[in-house]
Amino acid sequence: MKATAQAPANIAFIKYWGKADEELRLPLNSSISMNLSEAYTVTTVDFSREYQTDSIVLLDGVFSDKEKERTIRSLNRIRQKIENNMYARVVTKNTFPKGTGAAASASGFAALTVAAFASAGKKLSQKEITIFARMGSGSACRSIPDGFVLWEKGKTSEESYAHSLYSHEYWDVRDALVIVDTNMKKVSTTEGMESISTSPFLDARLAALPGRIDRCTEALARKNFSILGEVIEEDCLDMHHVMQTQVPPLIYWSDGTKTIMDAVIGWRKEGLAVYFTIDAGPNVHLIYEGQNERAVLEKIKTLYGVQRIIVNKAAAGAHLVDTHLF
Ligand code: DP6
Repeated sequence: MKATAQAPANIAFIKYWGKADEELRLPLNSSISMNLSEAYTVTTVDFSREYQTDSIVLLDGVFSDKEKERTIRSLNRIRQKIENNMYARVVTKNTFPKGTGAAASASGFAALTVAAFASAGKKLSQKEITIFARMGSGSACRSIPDGFVLWEKGKTSEESYAHSLYSHEYWDVRDALVIVDTNMKKVSTTEGMESISTSPFLDARLAALPGRIDRCTEALARKNFSILGEVIEEDCLDMHHVMQTQVPPLIYWSDGTKTIMDAVIGWRKEGLAVYFTIDAGPNVHLIYEGQNERAVLEKIKTLYGVQRIIVNKAAAGAHLVDTHLF
């Protein structure tokens, strides 16, 4: 039976960088994110006896062999759970460029997991779905629940799941994703995290994270935007500090990235409440409240090197949709 799911990308306010267990994708720390309304993946899965093999097609790009293998590994885990050995046809499309730090693996594995279980007619709890999505790509578990989401690191697979802290309607926080570069990133997040322990600053990061999770949760609870923005920027810079001091160093920033970071700090001095965060790529997410959107967009337009801006509100989590891709 064909089933189609739409899943948002998410932007981490407190980042996941490093695994305690690579196979299960258990993270070294808990993380917090917001789902993005305009950056999402739609995936149709059809498990059927008619197929002799799995086929995986990306409509607006090409999957590498590695990405195909990883998708098949996810299908295998799902097949084991549904106790069925049918092959699947998977067709998928993204609304945003792949491999640019816009977290296509999060929305991709979230949509795949939801569509695959639905195609097999298997109903799981949301918690269980987040656990399966996590094994595909860690950050994908955060794209399942609604709005503002906490991924509990946990010590076991069952304990490492994501849940909603607040719905997407709770607070009008926005994320303008400023695209300065659409080339594939050179080192994937999975590969990059493998050498995290070579950074002499990892221990300091891990020691600071529980406090940051608390500050972020409290800023959300009180809708205190300056505390939220400060902790988001602090954690972004801290994660990149660890990345940049790994051996070999991982430097995802380009000139365009740094131009925007400097500009944001300058705009804040002028009184505009906007903060930046960056994942494993050169593109920059600007975080602000809805009432400041016009002012933020006016400012971005003055910058050199901006290719595209994707303006996001907080969004619902992964869900089934009626229109299939094939
Ligand atoms: C920098 O979830 O892509 O975006 O589990 O290896 O697939 P894998 O990693 P992935 O890592 C995301 C890293 C990040 C920070 C974040 O989103 O928390």
